[in-house]
Amino acid sequence: MNGAAGGVGTFAVQIAKSFGANVTGVCSTRNVDLVRSIGADQVIDYTQQDCTKGGQRYDIVLDCVGNHSFSEWRRVLNPKGSSSASEHRPTFRCLDFWPV
Ligand SMILES: NC(=O)c1ccc[n+]([C@@H]2O[C@H](COP(=O)([O-])OP(=O)(O)OC[C@H]3O[C@@H](n4cnc5c(N)ncnc54)[C@H](OP(=O)(O)O)[C@@H]3O)[C@@H](O)[C@H]2O)c1
Repeated sequence: MNGAAGGVGTFAVQIAKSFGANVTGVCSTRNVDLVRSIGADQVIDYTQQDCTKGGQRYDIVLDCVGNHSFSEWRRVLNPKGSSSASEHRPTFRCLDFWPV
Protein backbone atom coordinates (compact mmCIF):
# COMPACT_ATOMS: atom_id res chain seq x y z
CA MET A 1 0.00 0.00 0.00
CA ASN A 2 1.81 3.08 -1.22
CA GLY A 3 0.54 6.12 0.71
CA ALA A 4 -0.63 3.95 3.59
CA ALA A 5 -0.82 6.87 6.04
CA GLY A 6 -3.22 8.93 3.92
CA GLY A 7 -6.99 9.21 3.79
CA VAL A 8 -7.32 6.45 1.20
CA GLY A 9 -4.38 4.39 2.44
CA THR A 10 -5.49 4.09 6.08
CA PHE A 11 -8.85 2.69 4.98
CA ALA A 12 -7.23 0.44 2.39
CA VAL A 13 -4.79 -1.07 4.92
CA GLN A 14 -7.63 -1.91 7.31
CA ILE A 15 -9.89 -3.31 4.59
CA ALA A 16 -7.05 -5.49 3.27
CA LYS A 17 -6.36 -6.77 6.79
CA SER A 18 -10.06 -7.57 7.28
CA PHE A 19 -9.74 -9.86 4.24
CA GLY A 20 -6.76 -11.57 5.84
CA ALA A 21 -4.08 -10.07 3.62
CA ASN A 22 -0.47 -9.68 4.65
CA VAL A 23 -0.04 -5.93 4.20
CA THR A 24 3.03 -3.80 3.64
CA GLY A 25 2.45 -0.08 4.09
CA VAL A 26 4.66 2.67 2.66
CA CYS A 27 4.82 6.02 4.47
CA SER A 28 7.23 8.59 5.91
CA THR A 29 9.16 8.19 9.17
CA ARG A 30 6.65 10.09 11.30
CA ASN A 31 3.82 7.75 10.25
CA VAL A 32 5.53 4.39 10.65
CA ASP A 33 3.92 3.72 14.07
CA LEU A 34 0.51 4.86 12.82
CA VAL A 35 0.57 2.53 9.83
CA ARG A 36 1.70 -0.37 12.02
CA SER A 37 -1.06 0.44 14.55
CA ILE A 38 -3.80 0.10 11.93
CA GLY A 39 -2.60 -3.37 11.04
CA ALA A 40 0.23 -3.28 8.52
CA ASP A 41 2.45 -6.33 8.93
CA GLN A 42 5.47 -4.57 7.42
CA VAL A 43 6.11 -0.85 7.05
CA ILE A 44 8.52 0.73 4.58
CA ASP A 45 9.72 4.25 5.34
CA TYR A 46 10.00 5.86 1.91
CA THR A 47 12.61 8.33 3.19
CA GLN A 48 14.92 5.37 3.89
CA GLN A 49 14.02 2.81 1.24
CA ASP A 50 12.55 2.67 -2.26
CA CYS A 51 9.72 0.14 -2.09
CA THR A 52 10.13 -0.70 -5.79
CA LYS A 53 13.76 -1.72 -5.37
CA GLY A 54 13.65 -4.31 -2.58
CA GLY A 55 13.60 -8.04 -3.16
CA GLN A 56 10.03 -8.43 -1.86
CA ARG A 57 7.26 -9.36 -4.34
CA TYR A 58 3.55 -8.57 -3.93
CA ASP A 59 0.28 -9.99 -5.26
CA ILE A 60 -1.44 -6.59 -5.23
CA VAL A 61 -0.09 -3.04 -5.23
CA LEU A 62 -2.43 -0.14 -4.46
CA ASP A 63 -0.72 3.15 -5.27
CA CYS A 64 -2.31 6.15 -3.53
CA VAL A 65 0.59 8.47 -4.37
CA GLY A 66 1.52 8.11 -8.04
CA ASN A 67 5.25 8.59 -7.62
CA HIS A 68 6.32 5.37 -9.36
CA SER A 69 5.93 4.29 -12.96
CA PHE A 70 4.12 1.24 -14.28
CA SER A 71 7.40 -0.52 -14.99
CA GLU A 72 8.69 0.18 -11.46
CA TRP A 73 5.60 -1.41 -9.93
CA ARG A 74 5.80 -4.34 -12.29
CA ARG A 75 9.25 -5.15 -10.92
CA VAL A 76 7.82 -5.89 -7.44
CA LEU A 77 4.68 -7.74 -8.56
CA ASN A 78 4.42 -11.51 -8.57
CA PRO A 79 3.86 -12.91 -12.09
CA LYS A 80 0.09 -13.05 -11.50
CA GLY A 81 0.00 -9.89 -9.38
CA SER A 82 -2.00 -6.75 -10.12
CA SER A 83 -1.58 -3.06 -9.54
CA SER A 84 -4.08 -0.27 -9.14
CA ALA A 85 -3.87 3.48 -8.61
CA SER A 86 -6.26 5.74 -6.71
CA GLU A 87 -5.32 8.65 -8.91
CA HIS A 88 -6.50 8.64 -12.52
CA ARG A 89 -3.47 10.29 -14.04
CA PRO A 90 -3.00 9.48 -17.72
CA THR A 91 0.21 7.55 -17.07
CA PHE A 92 -1.49 5.40 -14.47
CA ARG A 93 -4.77 4.69 -16.19
CA CYS A 94 -3.34 1.52 -17.66
CA LEU A 95 -2.80 0.11 -14.15
CA ASP A 96 -6.41 0.09 -13.09
CA PHE A 97 -7.45 -2.97 -15.03
CA TRP A 98 -4.07 -4.45 -15.76
CA PRO A 99 -4.84 -8.12 -16.43
CA VAL A 100 -3.67 -10.63 -13.82
N1 LIG B 1 -9.52 10.92 -0.57
C1 LIG B 1 -10.33 10.60 -1.58
O1 LIG B 1 -11.57 10.49 -1.43
C2 LIG B 1 -9.76 10.29 -2.95
C3 LIG B 1 -10.61 9.79 -3.92
C4 LIG B 1 -10.09 9.46 -5.17
C5 LIG B 1 -8.74 9.69 -5.44
N2 LIG B 1 -7.95 10.20 -4.49
C6 LIG B 1 -6.54 10.38 -4.80
O2 LIG B 1 -5.82 9.41 -4.07
C7 LIG B 1 -4.58 9.99 -3.67
C8 LIG B 1 -4.43 9.85 -2.17
O3 LIG B 1 -5.49 10.56 -1.54
P1 LIG B 1 -5.51 10.70 0.03
O4 LIG B 1 -6.79 11.36 0.36
O5 LIG B 1 -5.19 9.37 0.66
O6 LIG B 1 -4.31 11.74 0.24
P2 LIG B 1 -3.61 12.16 1.58
O7 LIG B 1 -4.49 11.93 2.75
O8 LIG B 1 -3.04 13.52 1.36
O9 LIG B 1 -2.42 11.12 1.73
C9 LIG B 1 -1.35 11.10 0.85
C10 LIG B 1 -0.29 10.24 1.51
O10 LIG B 1 0.76 10.08 0.57
C11 LIG B 1 1.90 9.84 1.34
N3 LIG B 1 3.09 10.09 0.56
C12 LIG B 1 3.61 11.28 0.13
N4 LIG B 1 4.74 11.07 -0.56
C13 LIG B 1 4.94 9.72 -0.57
C14 LIG B 1 5.94 8.89 -1.11
N5 LIG B 1 6.96 9.37 -1.82
N6 LIG B 1 5.81 7.54 -0.94
C15 LIG B 1 4.79 7.01 -0.24
N7 LIG B 1 3.81 7.76 0.33
C16 LIG B 1 3.89 9.10 0.16
C17 LIG B 1 1.81 10.73 2.55
O11 LIG B 1 2.43 10.00 3.57
P3 LIG B 1 3.30 10.74 4.67
O12 LIG B 1 2.38 11.71 5.35
O13 LIG B 1 3.77 9.63 5.56
O14 LIG B 1 4.41 11.45 3.93
C18 LIG B 1 0.30 10.87 2.75
O15 LIG B 1 -0.14 10.17 3.89
C19 LIG B 1 -4.57 11.45 -4.11
O16 LIG B 1 -3.79 11.54 -5.30
C20 LIG B 1 -6.03 11.74 -4.39
O17 LIG B 1 -6.16 12.68 -5.43
C21 LIG B 1 -8.42 10.50 -3.24
